Amino acid sequence: LSRRSFPAGFVFGTAASAYQVEGMALKDGRGPSIWDAFVKIPGEIANNATADVTVDEYHRYKEDVDIMKRMGFDAYRFSISWSRIFPTGTGKVNWKGVAYYNRLINYMLKIGITPYANLYHYDLPEALEVQYGGLLNRKIVEAFADYAEFCFKTFGDRVKNWMTFNEPRVVAALGYDDGAFAPGRCTKCKAGNSATEPYIVAHHLILSHAAAAQIYRHKYQHVQKGRIGILLDFVWYEGLTNSTADQDAAQRSRDFHVGWFLHPIIYGEYPKSLQVIVKERLPRFTADEIQMVKGSIDYVGINQYTAYYVRDQQPNATTIPSYSSDWHAAFASSFLTFFAPLGAADERNGVPIGPRANSDWLYIVPWGLYKAVTYVKEKYGNPTMLLSENGMDDPGNVTVAQGVHDTARVAYYRSYITKLKEAIDDGANCVGYFAWSMLDNFEWKLGYTSRFGLVYVDFATLRRYPKASAYWFRDVVTGKN
Ligand code: GCO
Repeated sequence: LSRRSFPAGFVFGTAASAYQVEGMALKDGRGPSIWDAFVKIPGEIANNATADVTVDEYHRYKEDVDIMKRMGFDAYRFSISWSRIFPTGTGKVNWKGVAYYNRLINYMLKIGITPYANLYHYDLPEALEVQYGGLLNRKIVEAFADYAEFCFKTFGDRVKNWMTFNEPRVVAALGYDDGAFAPGRCTKCKAGNSATEPYIVAHHLILSHAAAAQIYRHKYQHVQKGRIGILLDFVWYEGLTNSTADQDAAQRSRDFHVGWFLHPIIYGEYPKSLQVIVKERLPRFTADEIQMVKGSIDYVGINQYTAYYVRDQQPNATTIPSYSSDWHAAFASSFLTFFAPLGAADERNGVPIGPRANSDWLYIVPWGLYKAVTYVKEKYGNPTMLLSENGMDDPGNVTVAQGVHDTARVAYYRSYITKLKEAIDDGANCVGYFAWSMLDNFEWKLGYTSRFGLVYVDFATLRRYPKASAYWFRDVVTGKN
C-alpha cells in the first residue's frame, strides 16, 4: 500500500478536535462549553476525567505539527473552539483565542501542513445552553452563522478547507436522546423529549450549516477561493439476510443515520422513510430553507469506522417512540442502544460482523468502508468526498512499551485504506483521507481509558511516543512502501 497508488493530489492527514486535544479548557479567556459542564457531572466520564489539560496541544502545537510533518502527512483536520473565540457564544471576542488559532494555522502553513478547519465538534458555548436552550432554540442558527462568519473573515485568507459541523447525528442523538453526550438530555430516554428533541436539534444544525455555507459562498468564497462542507458519521448497515424485510430495515437505518443530513443537503428534503416513520414530529423545511440547504456543500466528510448487521423489527405502536425507537424500528436488530452496550452485537450464524476494538461500538469491518463510500457515490451523486475519520482504539491502561506495539492498528489501517483505494478505483470521488487520530487523547465518555492515536501519549508527562502505526503510516504516505 502506498500513496503512489492513489490519484494525484490525494491528501493524507490526521484529524482531532479542540476539546479532545487543546487543554487550557478554562484558561486564556476561553468560556466554558457544554462539555466543560458535562464532564463535571460525577459518573458521566470514565474516572470522572476532564479535558482541562488533555494532551495540551494549546502549548505543544509546534511539536505536534512537526510530528505530522515528519510522518509525511499533508494536512491536519482540527477544530476551532467556539467558546475560545466567543466566550459567551456571541458578542465579545477573546483575542487570545484568535491569536492561538493564528499561531497554529501559521505554523502549519510555514512547515507545509494544510489546515482543514472544522467549526463545531460538540463544544457549544455553555452560555447559549443556559440562556436559551442551545441547539433546541432556533436562535442558534444566527449565532452559529455569526461565529462562522467571524472565522471566515479572520482565518479564511489562510484556511481554504472549511467544515461546519462534525457528526450532527451524534450531536442530536447522543446529546438529546440517550443523553450519553453533552448536554445529556433525555438520559434513559424519557419518552416525550427524546421523541422530538433530536429532530429539532438536527433541523437547527442543518439550517445553521446552510446559513454559514451561504455566507461563505456569497461573501468570501470568490475572494478566498476555499470550499465548505460538513462531516457526517456513517456506520455501514448490512442486512442480516437477503430477505426484503431485512434489506429494507438496513436501508431505513442508513436513512436515519447518514440520510437524515445528507438527503436534505443533496435533495432538499428528509428521506421518505423518516417522513413516514417520524411523521409530524419531523420538522419540515420551508421553500426558502430548501433553497438554502439544497446543494450547500462543496464536499462532504465521511467518518467511517465500523459496520453492523440489521434485522427487521416491527415498531412498537403503542407508545410515542423516541429517536432510538424510531431508529430501532428502522435499525432493528437486538441492539438496545446504538452506542452504549453493544455487547449484544448481532451475529450472522454465530459469527460477529468483525473483531471488536476497545470501544464497544467499534467492530473491525473494512468492507463496510467500501460499501459506505460506494453508497454515497451511488445514492448522492458522487459528491466530492473526504474520508474524514477512520481508526480504532485499544485500552488506555497500557504502558508505553505495550502501547507502541500496535500491530492490530497497523492491520486495521492497512485493510481499511486498501478498501478505500478499491472504492476510488471503482469511481468514488474521494479526494482525501484522515486518520483518527494522531495522538491518544480525551475520548469523550471513555475519558483516557481508550487510545486512538498513532502516537502514544503518556498522560502523566505528556510526552509523545510514535507507535508502530506511525512508522507504518510514514512509509505509506511518503511512498516508501
Ligand atoms: C467524532 C468522533 C471523535 C471520536 C472518534 C473515536 O465525533 O468525530 O466522536 O471525536 O474521538 O470518533 O470515537
